Amino acid sequence: MKFFIDTAKVEDIKKANDMGVICGVTTNPSLIAKEGRVFEEVIAEIASIVDGPISGEVKATTTDAEGMIKEGREIAKIHPNMVVKIPMTVEGLKACKQLTSEGIKTNVTLIFTANQALLAARAGATYVSPFLGRLDDISVRGTDLIAEIAEIFKIAGIKTEIIAASVRHPMHVTDCALAGADIATVPYAVIEKMTEHPLTDAGIEKFQADYKAVFGE
Ligand code: E4P
Repeated sequence: MKFFIDTAKVEDIKKANDMGVICGVTTNPSLIAKEGRVFEEVIAEIASIVDGPISGEVKATTTDAEGMIKEGREIAKIHPNMVVKIPMTVEGLKACKQLTSEGIKTNVTLIFTANQALLAARAGATYVSPFLGRLDDISVRGTDLIAEIAEIFKIAGIKTEIIAASVRHPMHVTDCALAGADIATVPYAVIEKMTEHPLTDAGIEKFQADYKAVFGE
């Protein structure tokens, strides 16, 4: 399983990129709004940092296929690595079909069932984004959905990649990897938590103490 970072915060993207663990970025209208910056500007800056797929979503207020197609073409022009993120609706599927036929990569988002993922894949989506945390929030096991989609895609020989989204904590990451996600898109705070273990800290302290006892500072 590969990692993308799920944020529009440039400093966090730089930190994760410097660690060498991410190979892409996902954003959404809420994450862009949180930064309070012009969409095109922030996306272009992200593209100058990470050399991999960058998902930029159509405006939350655009709900018709024609509008999404128009915006999708503009997003694709920002950088060759751009992926157009489209919501999972009938209109979104139409836009996905059209943009795919134009050679533009797509990420169909807000996936909450295996059927939605299957439809998006058949409409030509490069990626599907099932949201596990938001399912867990309503007492539905999100990782079961990832496993279901992975199994169906395997049976049907579908090449669309599964991005496990709405990842909230390190256990989600392990569970997604075991469930067969191709990618997990993870907030920086979760990536940082994944690096930590008390025995690692204790081990470093002991190595330092033993070394200093014999060789000094
Ligand atoms: C996915 O691409 C979304 O940006 C994101 O993972 C949503 O996460 P949330 O449910 O924590 O907002």
